[in-house]
Amino acid sequence: MAATSKRLEGKVALITGAASGIGECSAKLFAKHGAKIVIADIQDQLGKAVCEAIGFSNSIYVHCDVANEEDVKNTVDIAVATFGKLDIMFNNAGIVDSYKARIIDNEKTDFERVLSVNVTGVFLGMKHAARVMVPARAGSIISTASNASNIGGVATHAYTCAKHAVTGLTKNLAVELGQFGIRVNCLSPYAVATPIATNFLEMDSEAVENKANLLANLKGVTLKADDIAKAALFLVSDEAKYISGQNLFIDGGFGIVNPSFSMFQYPESL
Ligand SMILES: NC(=O)c1ccc[n+]([C@@H]2O[C@H](COP(=O)([O-])OP(=O)(O)OC[C@H]3O[C@@H](n4cnc5c(N)ncnc54)[C@H](O)[C@@H]3O)[C@@H](O)[C@H]2O)c1
Repeated sequence: MAATSKRLEGKVALITGAASGIGECSAKLFAKHGAKIVIADIQDQLGKAVCEAIGFSNSIYVHCDVANEEDVKNTVDIAVATFGKLDIMFNNAGIVDSYKARIIDNEKTDFERVLSVNVTGVFLGMKHAARVMVPARAGSIISTASNASNIGGVATHAYTCAKHAVTGLTKNLAVELGQFGIRVNCLSPYAVATPIATNFLEMDSEAVENKANLLANLKGVTLKADDIAKAALFLVSDEAKYISGQNLFIDGGFGIVNPSFSMFQYPESL
């Protein structure tokens, strides 16, 4: 790849949940585009393997439970101590609770566990990124929300609630940090066959993709983790220099359809 085509040359990015799935793909793609990467996760072996794949001169792995403030603070400090600064914070780590059809069967502990990672974890990532970005008067913060950040009935109560909260945090922080030239956005993917989805649905990757494709608005393509990584790359790059406070849907239009009218149904013969 020619040096000029590298969109994150000289940047330092911290990605949470980067041991697997969307975070892993993003870490590899950001590194390919010239960024130094801090991989933060609780799956140490997988995280170190991602680091090895990227190269030890361009990346480090840090054990970080995003729900633990000391861990998040420490990881941001390690990023600055190792690579000199922090340009990009990607709050991507997330979990989901198991499916229960009735709210009365939901346990408070499960609800709070999901919120502690998916909301408090994002809040802490934002807070400690802001701590070092504000003095630098520069930076880009993104977080992974979901289709469930905007519509009901596509995920559990805790997960839906948490992802709605990510958009609230994103908007509020975009307002606070705009005065320092720091952009804050989030991404909302449709279903991607990563471990969070295969475990939740208790299906293998192929079955998850088949199910997702069946229910999708946009046909003939399958959403991959790499597609989310490319959208993340766009949002953190200078190409998105005036985009802030937004929730970018990578869902093929799934979230804007109300399918109950079945409008625009073409005859079979076409
Ligand atoms: N896969 C999908 O269908 C889908 C759709 C919409 C949104 N998302 C969101 O995308 C993000 C990434 O998920 P993914 O699809 O790559 O799944 P994944 O399971 O492959 O990756 C999630 C990563 O987060 C890490 N993690 C979990 N709890 C953590 C904690 N407390 N501290 C640090 N790391 C932690 C896991 O170890 C894992 O590496 C999540 O926020 C998820 O909610 C996923």
